Amino acid sequence: MKILILGNLGYIGPLVVERLRKSYPNAILVGFDIGYYAHALTTISRLPETLLDVQYYGDVRTFPEDLMNGVVAVVYLAAISNDPMGKEFEDITLDVNYRSAIYLAKLAKNKGAKSFIFASSCSLYGFAESGLRNENSELNPLTAYAKSKTCAEQDLEPIANDSFSITCLRFGTACGFSPRLRLDLVLNDFVANAITTGKIKILSDGKPWRPLIHIKDMARAIDWAISRRVNNGGSCLSINIGSNEWNYQVKELAEVVKLVIPNVDININHNTASDKRSYQVDFSLFESIAPDFIPKVSLEEAVKDLQSGLESIGFSDSNFRSSNLMRINMLKEHKRNGRLNEQLEWV
Ligand SMILES: NC(=O)c1ccc[n+]([C@@H]2O[C@H](COP(=O)([O-])OP(=O)(O)OC[C@H]3O[C@@H](n4cnc5c(N)ncnc54)[C@H](O)[C@@H]3O)[C@@H](O)[C@H]2O)c1
Repeated sequence: MKILILGNLGYIGPLVVERLRKSYPNAILVGFDIGYYAHALTTISRLPETLLDVQYYGDVRTFPEDLMNGVVAVVYLAAISNDPMGKEFEDITLDVNYRSAIYLAKLAKNKGAKSFIFASSCSLYGFAESGLRNENSELNPLTAYAKSKTCAEQDLEPIANDSFSITCLRFGTACGFSPRLRLDLVLNDFVANAITTGKIKILSDGKPWRPLIHIKDMARAIDWAISRRVNNGGSCLSINIGSNEWNYQVKELAEVVKLVIPNVDININHNTASDKRSYQVDFSLFESIAPDFIPKVSLEEAVKDLQSGLESIGFSDSNFRSSNLMRINMLKEHKRNGRLNEQLEWV
């Protein structure tokens, strides 16, 4: 069995590779990534890609068709992967997150693959505070990033059939330590701030709702989706991935960090305009159709995992919000130094 993981050299990819290597010890695991963050490792352990059989460097926008030969399952992680980057690089966000995903799903199907797993996002629910959003709720994508995921889901649906399943996993906001850690994520930011400054600076009024999920649990869901049968959810399934216990208000996340890392001050910005992105999500469908794969990591464990990971690399940069651990800073630095052109292609 050959599994192709597109976008494996980011924050979540290394955990996905680790999980798939354990679940499919004899599979041929192939990685493909443009490599924007490939060098930005935050581990003193082995290079995550040594668990793969092959690593390719390339662009999903110009994917070499032959690399799809013999592939049985495709995991599509490649993305311009958050709202600030989507705002800065709107057209490229649509090209990478949406158009290339559709092209590659069609290619995979034509080449005889059996399943396509698309990393979608709960952010397509937008502002949705009145009650839990389930898979039948109206979508309200507010940003270029969320729109790219919404368009991709819509156009993936007609490609699926009984012999080619498509699963769009609508993940909550990721958290947890990774060999390619990123700190542009709310819980990761809070823990890094707590460790380096003893303070958590909440940029909003703390009231927005966010469903969170640990990256190990995201990898477990991808594992499930690879072998999902079409009689369990249909040939194309869009499904919320997370846990009903993990819908948190941002200020609650800060409180849990403070429980694990004592003597931390929490500073809430009461003067800011309220955050338009706020949503609570219903994960009951996932619980019912994938009971063995529902999230396991607790929020306290996630905080401890981040704390020990950051300590293991001697992390002490209190100015990390200006550093390359924020993905947008990395892309801008590549551009500023002439390494990437306007289209975010390597020069
Ligand atoms: N991190 C989260 O909170 C979260 C939540 C929900 C969904 N997701 C989705 O999960 C996926 C993985 O997220 P992540 O946090 O690891 O993102 P990431 O930005 O860390 O990794 C994405 C990877 O895609 C690669 N990539 C970008 N453009 C490419 C191109 N043109 N060709 C080939 N590779 C390209 C990048 O180099 C990077 O390694 C993304 O699709 C993201 O939208 C993430």
